Amino acid sequence: MSHILVTGAAGFIGSHTVEQLLAAGHRVTGIDSFRTGHRANLANALREPAFALHETDVAAAGTVDALVAAARPDAVIHLAALVSVQESMLHPDLNYTLNVHAVQLVAEAARRHGVPRLVFASSAAIYGDSPVLPLHEGVPAQPISPYGAAKAASEVLLLGYARSFGLTVRCQRYFNVFGPRQDPASPYSGVISIFNRRYREGRGVTIYGDGGQTRDFVSVHDVARANVLAATRAGIPSGVANICTGRATSLREVVAEFARHFPAVPKAEFAAARPGDIVHSRGTAILAERELGFQAQVPVADGLAELIRLP
Ligand code: UD1
Repeated sequence: MSHILVTGAAGFIGSHTVEQLLAAGHRVTGIDSFRTGHRANLANALREPAFALHETDVAAAGTVDALVAAARPDAVIHLAALVSVQESMLHPDLNYTLNVHAVQLVAEAARRHGVPRLVFASSAAIYGDSPVLPLHEGVPAQPISPYGAAKAASEVLLLGYARSFGLTVRCQRYFNVFGPRQDPASPYSGVISIFNRRYREGRGVTIYGDGGQTRDFVSVHDVARANVLAATRAGIPSGVANICTGRATSLREVVAEFARHFPAVPKAEFAAARPGDIVHSRGTAILAERELGFQAQVPVADGLAELIRLP
């Protein structure tokens, strides 16, 4: 059993990660500011005696340091972040504070208090609009948003810490994550969360472009498992790895799956492609398999069926 400190514990990916850590018998200290996370996401976890939750902002001076000093965890999984690409365009300063400055505070707390391992929520956004298919970790970072730039900068910062101070750092480049608890609030939220809400409400969806665009949709359950492996598996090296399925799914296929479950909902409408939209994005999952022993297990159709079944 290990003791793991999870920042962003009440978020979409955070809450699933906390639940899987607890299910595996680990002790978990969670931190969340509830800026975008929700206490309700932790309803199950809060019933477990092995879970403690602290409401605080990781970007505030001294907070992470004090919590790490008190908890002395075996690993930190740092998921607290500004999570919207769109918001990073509107508020680049806040993006810097939450996605770069806070990472430095976490890294420094880990160094000062001898935390042996740090897992970081990176993103396929660091690849920008690279046309390489499938995207592999050797493709240079060429972000096209403040969000992607911050994730790329933080990866470099953390890997520098790993080389300098001997802790193990894992940067997890999540692709298009979907699943329960993803927030559909904004038009720029993940497409599956938006489609799920609209089909449930009996409204049709809008497909931007011809629907032939493809993404590497990875279930949040797989992503949480990748986090657990990165934090707890013995003998893994520092490095970056795509967290993806290695498979492409088109938007038309996603819509067809929803339409099968909701036959009464009006047909999808088509609108002009969004400016800056990339057509195809898919990662190779080879490195995560080799270094973490991680393989995605949830087929997109199963993940969609799970979402649709939820009350
Ligand atoms: C992701 C980011 C986006 C960013 C882009 C940069 C998320 C949720 N989105 O977009 O903010 O600009 O990387 O590469 O992290 N779509 C529809 N109908 C809708 C909503 C979306 O057709 O109602 C389409 C989009 O135009 C896109 C596809 O669905 O072609 C997937 O969209 P999204 O879930 O936003 O993911 P990314 O395009 O990868």
